[in-house]
This record gives sequence, C-alpha cells and structure tokens, in this order.
Amino acid sequence: MTIFPRQALADDLAARLLAAPATSASGSGLFLAAPRRTGKSTFLREDLRPALARRGAVVIYADLWADKTADPGDVIVAAIRAALAQREGVVTRLARSSGLDKVSVGGLAFSLDRVGLAQGVSLSAALAALSDEAQAMTVLIVDEAQHAITSEAGANALFALKAARDELNSSAHHGLRVVATGSNRDKLAMLRNSKDQAFFGAPLVNFPPLGPDYIAWFISHLPFRQELDADQVYQWFSAAAFRPEILGGAVDALLYDLAVRPGQFAQRLHQLIQEQVRASNHEALRVVHSLTPLQSAVLRVLAASGAGYAPFEAQTMDRYRATLATIAPDAKVEPETNNVQQALVALQDKALVWKAARGVYALEDSFLAELMQQAGMLPA
Ligand SMILES: Nc1ncnc2c1ncn2[C@@H]1O[C@H](COP(=O)(O)OP(=O)(O)O)[C@@H](O)[C@H]1O
Ligand SMILES: [Mg+2]
Repeated sequence: MTIFPRQALADDLAARLLAAPATSASGSGLFLAAPRRTGKSTFLREDLRPALARRGAVVIYADLWADKTADPGDVIVAAIRAALAQREGVVTRLARSSGLDKVSVGGLAFSLDRVGLAQGVSLSAALAALSDEAQAMTVLIVDEAQHAITSEAGANALFALKAARDELNSSAHHGLRVVATGSNRDKLAMLRNSKDQAFFGAPLVNFPPLGPDYIAWFISHLPFRQELDADQVYQWFSAAAFRPEILGGAVDALLYDLAVRPGQFAQRLHQLIQEQVRASNHEALRVVHSLTPLQSAVLRVLAASGAGYAPFEAQTMDRYRATLATIAPDAKVEPETNNVQQALVALQDKALVWKAARGVYALEDSFLAELMQQAGMLPA
C-alpha cells in the first residue's frame, strides 16, 4: 500500500502561506505541531512540497532529524546549498557579487562551500540571489525544528534565517516563508516566544491527524474490507493516537493469521490494533527500565516537573533523593550536580531527553510522561 494523498489540505495550506502578507512575523511563517508518527513528514514531502511547487514557489526542505548525528545548523545550510546548486544562474550571481565576474563561471569559479553561517556568503545573500533568479516566493520547510536550538550552529542558523526573512520580504525580492514542524508544542513555543528569534510571533497550528477519509481509503485496499465498518475502524485508529503504523502493523499480522475465519476479521483486527499499541508502549518503557537508578530518578523527576524543571536546585536534588529512596533503596547513590549532569547527558544519548542550547531540559517525547504516569513511575 502506498500513501494516502492529502491534496486538499496541502492546497489550502499552500494558498494561505503564499497569499499571507509578510508585513508581520505571523505572515512569514507557520508552525505545525502534531504528535510523533502521525504523518507530518510524509505530508510535507508528499503533499505540501508539490502543492507549493505547483504554485511556482521555490521549496527548500530540511529534516533536522534525518541524521541525528548531524548538527542541525549544518543540515539547514546543506539544504539551502542544494537548492542553490539546482540553478546555475544563482551560482553565477553569487560569483559575480563576490567579485568573481571576470572568471569564466559555469559554477567552477565559485564554490557553494562559501555559503554558510560564518563564511563569505551569508544565508541571507544566498537566498536573496535565489529569490532574484527564480523571481518567485521561497518557502523553507524545517522538519522537527525544535532541534535547531539544541546546538549553537542551529541557533545561529535561526538568527541567519531571521535576517534572510527580513531581506527577502522587503520590496527588493520575492518573499520568504518558513514552515516549521515539531511534535512538541512546548519546544516549538520556545522558538517563537522571544523577540530575537527568527519565528517570533509565527502562529502555532495543530496539524490535523489523518481522518475518516484516510480510513475509508485504507479499508478499500483490504481483501476483507466487506467485514469492516469504517466508523468503527476510525474509532480504533483514534484510540491508537492516529498512528498509521499501528494500523498497518495490525493488518500485516492479520493477513498472515491463518486461524482467522470469515466473519472474524473485524474483531481480530481490533485485537491486533490493541496489541500493537501495547507493544509500542512497552517498547517505549523498555528503555526507561534499562536505566541506572540515578538516571531513572532524574528522568522521573523531569517528567513529573514538566516545564518547571530546574535540574540542579536544592529542592530538585531532594526530589531525586526521595525518588531514589523509593525505586532503589539500596543503591547508595547521592545525587550531586556532577552525577546529575552525567545522568542528563546519558538520557540525551538515549534520546529520552532534549536539551536546548540555553540549558533548558524537556522530555524528547512528551507522550513518555503519560506512559510513565500510567505505569505508576512518576513521583507525586
Ligand atoms: N498519508 C499517509 N498515508 C499512509 N501512510 C502514512 C501517511 N502519512 C504517514 N503515514 C505513515 O505513518 C508513519 C509516520 O509518518 P511520518 O510522516 O514519519 O510521521 P511524523 O513525521 O509525524 O513523525 C510512516 O510509516 C508513514 O508511512
Ligand atoms: Mg517526522
């Protein structure tokens, strides 16, 4: 099975983005928030990108999660360089403006390596050249944008984009819109709440999950479709937090379930969906169960504190101590700034905890707090 197209949604969003006046921050950017695995990246790549391109926009796509070891700043710069490289005219323009006009160009005299954050050619200058060459609106899509503020270079890239946004939205060029996505509203909010941020004031919109039309499409591909009621399957999908993979996994298991007889498919599918949800929850908690007592205590206190988490305050140290006393009374670890720091680094390495460059910590996936709560793992 392939991908269910969401063209109407893409067209609607594309039209709004390109029509919005850029007189304010809210006109030049948009944040889309939705939980993980609900189809954001797929929508950006399969639906929104083509919808924008059909309307003549130049689209640049940077996925800050595609390679978790890559610095988010580098990923943004690389995506912009790749877009520049696709137009020979842009390279010529940049070469000229760098005083290389006497050299025969063809891309050889000017290396795109010079475009970057602390390099000769700023992102702003590069995007302006692209805008002038294409004579069209540029749309930069940053997937999992919250990762931009986990590194210095990423934060710098955002400042550079703010400058680019102001430049391209001036009357001299053809406009820049930035679409950012993320799975965590709190983290995205950090990107748009302070005046010095590139996205200050950009609206934060809940990205809609796949709906009944997707379910109808999904069912229509199944050999046992006549046994299924679309409304009911939609309810199961909703209980599975709108994750297509849960549905897909259940169907895969059902297709090879040799014991299931005609008339039993609906009931069996429901069971398998519930099993997939349990397995996925179990998998998420498995990592938590493998932590050292101190790491576990730090994670639990962080998860219970939410946005108010202050890792090294005396009160927080008391909470680690109390948590340790309940989960590992014999562990004999005394929480101190040093080992708490180490525990936080280990939790980041395990992709459980996210740290902004300014030292703010949060759960990588806010859903984990819910799971830990249900499992009785959170301190009061
Ligand atoms: N429109 C769609 N039709 C079918 N499957 C989809 C659709 N959107 C997402 N999926 C599937 O759901 C899973 C998660 O999608 P993804 O786009 O990676 O989510 P996110 O970016 O929100 O984490 C992927 O396996 C993807 O193939
Ligand atoms: Mg994604």
